[in-house]
Amino acid sequence: MFRRTEPTDCTIEWEGRALPARAGESLAVALLAAGITSFRETPVTGTARGPLCLMGACFDCLVEVEGAQNIQACLTQVTPGMRAGIQHGARGFVDDAA
Ligand code: FES
Repeated sequence: MFRRTEPTDCTIEWEGRALPARAGESLAVALLAAGITSFRETPVTGTARGPLCLMGACFDCLVEVEGAQNIQACLTQVTPGMRAGIQHGARGFVDDAA
């Protein structure tokens, strides 16, 4: 679907798999360039979703990064060794008052 025009300089981990990336590019771009198009699953039907707008408006690119949920991949810069994965369903509940 997409082809890189510049060489990669690091790797990231997606669902436990090492993927080539460029430090500073968006996580969404790194995943798309690696052929990954399913970033999350919807809470109701589990339908796979992937980035649409690539500018922070649609929220279809939500992923988990370093254990944090609801991270917009299109607005997140790649750092070497970054660990990310599919967000399954709705974000988990965190009780900050406890
Ligand atoms: S692709 Fe639309 S918010 Fe990230």
